[in-house]
Amino acid sequence: MRTLLGLLAISATAIAFEDSVTDYAPSVNIACPNLETTAFVREWNATNQTLNPAEEEYVNTRINTTIAQAWNDWLGNGSQLGYNITAFQGNFPKIGLALPGGGLRAAQVGAAALSGIDARNDSAKTAGTGGLLQVSSYLSGLSGGSWVTGSLYFNNFPTLNDLVFGNGNNLTGWLLDLAFASPDGDDVFSEYNQYFYGSILWSVMSKANTGIDTSITDPWARMISYHFLNQTSRSNFFTNDTAHGAGQLWSNIPTIPAWQQRLTPFPILVTDSRPQGDNATTALGLTPTVYEITPFEFASYDPGLSAGVNLTFAGTPMTNSKPVNASACVTGFDQAGFMMGTSASLFNQILDFAHNTLQDFSSSDSNALLYVLSRQLTEVRTRADDVANWYSPFNGLKPSTYEDSNSTWLSLLDGASNGENIPLAPLFVKERALDVIVPLDSSADDTNNWPNGTGLLISAQRQQQLLQASHQAFPPLPQDAQAFIDTGARERPTFFGCDPTQNPPEFPLIIYIPNTPPFNGDAPAANTGTFQLQYTAKASQVLFDQVHNNTISGFVPNTTHADPNFGRCLQCAAVDRARYKLSPIVNRSEFCQTCFTQYCFNPEAPPSLSEVPDRQQLFVDPDPQGLVDFLSANKFKLIGGLVGLIVFIALLVGGLIWWKKRRDKQFFTQYHQVSALHEEEEATMKRYTQYLRPEAYEMPSHRGSLYSDHGSSTAF
Ligand SMILES: *[C@@H]1O[C@H](CO)[C@@H](O)[C@H](O)[C@H]1NC(C)=O
Ligand SMILES: *[C@@H]1O[C@H](CO)[C@@H](O)[C@H](O)[C@H]1NC(C)=O
Ligand SMILES: *[C@@H]1O[C@H](CO)[C@@H](O)[C@H](O)[C@H]1NC(C)=O
Ligand SMILES: *[C@@H]1O[C@H](CO)[C@@H](O)[C@H](O)[C@H]1NC(C)=O
Ligand SMILES: *[C@@H]1O[C@H](CO)[C@@H](O)[C@H](O)[C@H]1NC(C)=O
Ligand SMILES: *[C@@H]1O[C@H](CO)[C@@H](O)[C@H](O)[C@H]1NC(C)=O
Ligand SMILES: *[C@@H]1O[C@H](CO)[C@@H](O)[C@H](O)[C@H]1NC(C)=O
Ligand SMILES: *[C@@H]1O[C@H](CO)[C@@H](O)[C@H](O)[C@H]1NC(C)=O
Ligand SMILES: *[C@@H]1O[C@H](CO)[C@@H](O)[C@H](O)[C@H]1NC(C)=O
Ligand SMILES: *[C@@H]1O[C@H](CO)[C@@H](O)[C@H](O)[C@H]1NC(C)=O
Ligand SMILES: *[C@@H]1O[C@H](CO)[C@@H](O)[C@H](O)[C@H]1NC(C)=O
Ligand SMILES: *[C@@H]1O[C@H](CO)[C@@H](O)[C@H](O)[C@H]1NC(C)=O
Repeated sequence: MRTLLGLLAISATAIAFEDSVTDYAPSVNIACPNLETTAFVREWNATNQTLNPAEEEYVNTRINTTIAQAWNDWLGNGSQLGYNITAFQGNFPKIGLALPGGGLRAAQVGAAALSGIDARNDSAKTAGTGGLLQVSSYLSGLSGGSWVTGSLYFNNFPTLNDLVFGNGNNLTGWLLDLAFASPDGDDVFSEYNQYFYGSILWSVMSKANTGIDTSITDPWARMISYHFLNQTSRSNFFTNDTAHGAGQLWSNIPTIPAWQQRLTPFPILVTDSRPQGDNATTALGLTPTVYEITPFEFASYDPGLSAGVNLTFAGTPMTNSKPVNASACVTGFDQAGFMMGTSASLFNQILDFAHNTLQDFSSSDSNALLYVLSRQLTEVRTRADDVANWYSPFNGLKPSTYEDSNSTWLSLLDGASNGENIPLAPLFVKERALDVIVPLDSSADDTNNWPNGTGLLISAQRQQQLLQASHQAFPPLPQDAQAFIDTGARERPTFFGCDPTQNPPEFPLIIYIPNTPPFNGDAPAANTGTFQLQYTAKASQVLFDQVHNNTISGFVPNTTHADPNFGRCLQCAAVDRARYKLSPIVNRSEFCQTCFTQYCFNPEAPPSLSEVPDRQQLFVDPDPQGLVDFLSANKFKLIGGLVGLIVFIALLVGGLIWWKKRRDKQFFTQYHQVSALHEEEEATMKRYTQYLRPEAYEMPSHRGSLYSDHGSSTAF
């Protein structure tokens, strides 16, 4: 008997400590720290910025330790560039990398480009490009770019190939052959899909039960976690055996071993906001506030706000920089999946309530997401269904310059919603004082899903119009997207701002590394559609290898050859600003000047598209048979799925009317704890009935093919 009790006690303890998908729920009603000694919110002003002291500490000690060593490892004594590295006296440039949005294409292209500048990768090391990652201080990511960023940290900064494809050991890879929204095939009612949705809804309900408003971003965040966080494998995918990333917090990044060894750049995600009262379902203009998420802070360096909140407490209702209720702080809101989901929350632009469709997604992805949303909406009240709902930590701040000063909630959106598809803003913040900025641009700007410079141009425009006080200027760029195309600047690595006229230089150097057709004239596999949410292993591998090969190869003008000097040219560019830190300025070496002549964009004498001949623009599926196999294996499920969905919707519609009457009464009591804090908004709260419009329901129409979607202007 005693043994039995003992066993029971042990198993009870084990269960209590087991990870669960319900760890997605934030902890509410936590006693707040002493506000006399702990400031939740930091404020500064645009002309006198301050960084979070914890960020400064991390970045600076890294510069003096890991990065100093990494420069030596990468450049040796500098003689191969024509420099004496010792002469730079350790004053190396501060570098930031930027990974843009574009769904799984952006995540994979970003990973492959990073592998091409990673000193741990043999071919990158041999080419001389491997090392740039190690000397970088910052890594910003947005939307699809935020997924590779988060994945790197929460898997302890492994090599990129292992991260994406697994290592046969404790890394399981991204499992991209399991479709994001319907991993067991298109039939949303299949046994395994139902397990999957059950787990996801269980997570989301557990958050909703704390009284915090959820939205479609929450199930989306959970789907992202299955692929990019570390607790999901092929064998446990459809189980509740692990938390599948629930409970992993962005603010816990500093506990990760690689971080503690100062091996990683400082990560920053970007998210946009829809101003209060604006119902925009189209792209935003440039004025709405742009926010950033670091392991320490949720902040905005836009001049009008210039404030940040401790990320640990980001879910706490606050006014005038203080918790509304000192015994009701919230922690655990900064779920890693939800941070990545917020940065990739593009739904306000594609969720078509009138037709219950998600434009641009394939019909099966759209069905699956809407199915989950509809089940969610039958259980919980939401605020705005199509945005990431965050309590505003900045309520009451800077009413004369901050447009959302009187909001209790923020409506956060995909970081590219204002057209800035490359997360450049955090890297141009003056106080961060970056010397070199490296956009690894995988935007799908043109009809073949290649970048055309638009991300750079829009960020330059926003800086020019709104951020001059707070952010560094951009160097001269081609005047428009057409000029990016005509000069070939988007078809090969291009350096911008090579020759500043002032010292300190009036702008950082930009090393632009766009996703391009293979330099050797091969058929391209890396320009897939933003809304493709499933890849065969082979398609993924070919994409990765192509982008990796491009990243280490540079170009030789008028040929389809790799440039054997590209690695050293990249080193020249990375180190160039060190010359300006010495007095007198050290001259550029002859070798590096030759590189700059080839790779720099000189606005006086722009390069020409003819220098990059014979590049194939049109996507060629490297694994057409994989698609055929997949479709035939799922043919019956597909049919069943569509029929099943129609039946389901009919049942749902019937059930809803009865359910709504019954449920309405319960809303106010059930959500009392936190919702008491925003009761004034109850009256205008959106309800599920406004979204599920039974009479208007139509089956989603196909938008493009199931597997690619060329030329969409929305990016995530
Ligand atoms: C900026 O903030 C500092 C203190 O943090 C203050 O002394 C200064 O007046 C502020 N400047 C402006 C323009 O508000
Ligand atoms: C800038 O801000 C810091 C810290 O808030 C303050 O100590 C300093 O006086 C300010 N400098 C100026 C010129 O306002
Ligand atoms: C880094 O090194 C520089 C120069 O050696 C020194 O001035 C600075 O205080 C050091 N910073 C840290 C955080 O150790
Ligand atoms: C490099 O510079 C350092 C310090 O200025 C000097 O001691 C050293 O002799 C130089 N090395 C070469 C190879 O010129
Ligand atoms: C997953 O990552 C978290 C956070 O980095 C870490 O605590 C945990 O040990 C990792 N789990 C596995 C199974 O690797
Ligand atoms: C996987 O195992 C390696 C070697 O044991 C370890 O260094 C690494 O941190 C582990 N990764 C994760 C995500 O647990
Ligand atoms: C996991 O739990 C959820 C919620 O209870 C359930 O719907 C789902 O079916 C479970 N999955 C499995 C494999 O039992
Ligand atoms: C947003 O929608 C609400 C409710 O439909 C409406 O009252 C309001 O005027 C709209 N606001 C804007 C700026 O269009
Ligand atoms: C956030 O608050 C927690 C708890 O008071 C504290 O431990 C942590 O250092 C704070 N983080 C920052 C970046 O200030
Ligand atoms: C909040 O600010 C907006 C715009 O500044 C204004 O239209 C609105 O009336 C304000 N609402 C409240 C409750 O003060
Ligand atoms: C460049 O890309 C943008 C989308 O980012 C697109 O709207 C525009 O038409 C493209 N321009 C050219 C000349 O390709
Ligand atoms: C990448 O380059 C390697 C070495 O040159 C080559 O073997 C491989 O086929 C290339 N891969 C692709 C996809 O181009």
